[in-house]
Parts: sequence; structure tokens; C-alpha cells
Amino acid sequence: MTDIKSDRKKFSIAVIQGDGIGPEVIGETRAIADAAASKEGALLEWVDYPFGASYYLRTGDILPESAIREMGKHDAMLLGAIGDPSVKPGILEQGILLKLRFVFDQYVNLRPAVSFPNVPVPVPSPEKMDSVVIRENTEDIYMGLGDISTDGTLDSSMDIDRGGYSLRGSLNLTITPGMGFAAQVALNTRHGVERIARYACDTARRRGEDLVTIVTKSNAVPALYGFFEDTAKRIIESEYPDLKWSAVNVDALCYHLVRRPAAYGVLLCPNLFGDIVSDLQAGLAGGLGTAAGGNIGDGLSMFEPVHGSAPDIAGTGRANPIAAVLSGALLLRHLGLDGAAIGVEGAVRRYLETAPERARPFEFGGSASCGQVGEAIIKNI
Ligand code: NAD
Ligand code: IPM
Ligand code: MN
Repeated sequence: MTDIKSDRKKFSIAVIQGDGIGPEVIGETRAIADAAASKEGALLEWVDYPFGASYYLRTGDILPESAIREMGKHDAMLLGAIGDPSVKPGILEQGILLKLRFVFDQYVNLRPAVSFPNVPVPVPSPEKMDSVVIRENTEDIYMGLGDISTDGTLDSSMDIDRGGYSLRGSLNLTITPGMGFAAQVALNTRHGVERIARYACDTARRRGEDLVTIVTKSNAVPALYGFFEDTAKRIIESEYPDLKWSAVNVDALCYHLVRRPAAYGVLLCPNLFGDIVSDLQAGLAGGLGTAAGGNIGDGLSMFEPVHGSAPDIAGTGRANPIAAVLSGALLLRHLGLDGAAIGVEGAVRRYLETAPERARPFEFGGSASCGQVGEAIIKNI
């Protein structure tokens, strides 16, 4: 997988601001990314796509195929958050967010968890957190295969074409007549696990580390997660002789993380565990408001904060834009604009180091609105 490294100075970025606090945090992110890019002589052209709850409620459409084709022509995508209490959970999240991850085969979900200055943390620790979740982003229980039965029979067919494989067949189940039930199939393939294991190993090398921690649950779910663990181990042992692996059950990992948040470096996770562990890491590092992320593949990559649409604070100005801003920095680095990415990250750090308490985000005990935090970061570019 290669970043778009070139001498190009003009880039086209698709944007889905999305729901809840999405538009608030994306507005600040764009302004900050523009400021950092222009310092490097680069120009970002933002192309908005309106998808999310209000578009769906207005039109009945979730994400038209024609829009997906258009999106594929951009150099990268920035996304705020998807999901709103006015729409049944899953419809938009599956129909937009997961769909984009699958269609563009964004098999890496990169989620760093880093300590920042003056950010209160729930577990004080003498060591700084500098960890990264490498989450497999296309398989596991997220495949979306399965259904709900009200009459005791379930016949759910699968017909999927992915970048690396096709999958056809059906899930046929019969339970005691009349008993409602639900079944959903989880799947990890050799193709899927090998490529994410390689990405985790490359990440460890880039960070100057010699260990990849495989997050597993092979004790209780040996087929699905035993396969993930064994396949990852084989890649590390056969292709990365300079690296070591260790395997930790996800339940124990949560326990260890809470007691020693800075104990881990690269955490290689199956899809569902990666989702959960990245929120835990975000909480330990001081809040979802600083947790950045990228969905990366060989085609269009999509950058978005770990957090969701936070409907509980949407419209109040209390959203912390830093997670989205740092996702913007990951996007800039992906485009090969390393100087601009470093500019954004440095500006966030300088702002947090120097801002008086009241000028910090609400999440960190201050009273600066989303827009005020954004303005203060721009001043530090
Ligand atoms: P959430 O991440 O939106 O919110 C969890 C908690 O963290 C809330 O109390 C919220 O106020 C707080 N929070 C989140 N981001 C914050 C920020 N930037 N600044 C300050 N506080 C912040 O998770 P949820 O409540 O489970 O989900 C809300 C909606 O978002 C649901 O519809 C869910 O499906 C969706 N969701 C979307 C994404 C995504 O688009 N990537 C990710 C997670 C959840
Ligand atoms: C995330 C979110 C999504 C996920 C949801 C909204 C489908 O929690 O990006 O972490 O589970 O991947
Ligand atoms: Mn999540």
C-alpha cells in the first residue's frame, strides 16, 4: 500500500459532514487543514456530499451508487460522523459508513491513542500513552451476513464480491417453531488477516518497535479468533524475523489497559475488538475528542474521528474538534503532505500546552466552543 506521494500540490477531497456534531467538527478541520496545506503551497478542493440522516429523511435515499462512483475519483475522503436518533440504529451506519469501508476495501482502520499536554486522564500514569490500534476493517462480525427470524426459520443468502474474494451461499437455520431468533455470521479470511497483519508489522517497524500484540479471544471462539491469531502469527514469524508477537485475550487486555494505559504499542485487532478497544484507549488518553482515525485501502481512503455524532451535545458548541482535526492530519500525510500534517499536529499540541484553562475544550474542563478551539489551533499553525 502506498500513500499518494508526489509533487502534486492540488488535491480533491470528498467530504461527508454527516450528522450531529459532524458538521461542527468538520468545519474546523477544513479551515485548519487549508491553513496548513497553504503554508506548504498546496491547495485542497473540498467537494461536499450531503449524506446522512436529514438527506435520508428528505429523499428516502441512503447512498446512491452514482455518488459512490463519483467519490472514487477523489484523492481522499473526510467524514464527520453518521447516525441520528431519528433513524433506526444501523440503517445509516451500515448504509453509509460500513458500505464505504467495504466498497473501497478500506481494510485498515488506523486509530492512534496518544497522550496530550494538559488533558485530564481518568487513570493518572507516569508514562505517556503512545499506542495504535490496527483494526481489521472489512470482516469479522461486521460482514452484515444474517437476519432476524420471527417464525423459527431463517434463510439468509450471501452473494458478495470483495477485492480479494467472492463469497456465495446461504445460512439455513430452523429453531423450535415460533421462536424468534437472530443469527449473524462472522468471517475472517486468510486474505483479510494476512494483509492487516502485514500492515501492523510495517507500523511497528515504522515506530521503531519490535513487538506486535495480537488481540484475540481464541480461548472462547477458537475457529474465528484462533484462525485470526494463528494466521497473524504465521505472517510475523515468516515475513518479519525482526519482530516478535504476543497474543492477549481481549478481556484481559481491557483489564491491563485500565491498570496501565501506556503498556502497549501496536495492537492488532479483529474488527469488533478493534472498535471496542479504540474507544477504551480514547477514554484512557483523555477523551473521544482527541481520538483520530483513518480507513485506509489501496483505493479511496477515508479519514474520520473515532467518535460518533454525539447527539447529546450536538448544537451546543461543546464538541471538541481535535479528533477530527487530527484525522485531517492523517489525511494530509496520506496525500504526501507530511509538512502540513506535522503543522496541524504541532499546532494542536502548542494550543493545548499554552491555552489557559478556560480556553480549552469543554471535554477537558474548559469553556471554549468548537469554533473557538478551531480558531486557537489555526493561530498556532
Ligand atoms: P459517540 O461517540 O457519538 O458519543 C459517546 C460520548 O462521547 C457522548 O457522551 C458524546 O457526547 C461524547 N463525545 C463524542 N465525541 C465527542 C467530541 N468530539 N467532543 C466531546 N464529546 C464527545 O457514541 P454514541 O453515543 O454511541 O453514538 C451516537 C451516534 O453516532 C449513533 O448513531 C452511532 O451509531 C453513531 N456513531 C457513528 C460513528 C461514525 O460515524 N464513525 C462512530 C460511532 C458512533
Ligand atoms: C466506529 C463506529 C462504527 C463501527 C459504527 C457506527 C458502525 O463505532 O467507527 O467506531 O462500529 O465501526
Ligand atoms: Mn466505534
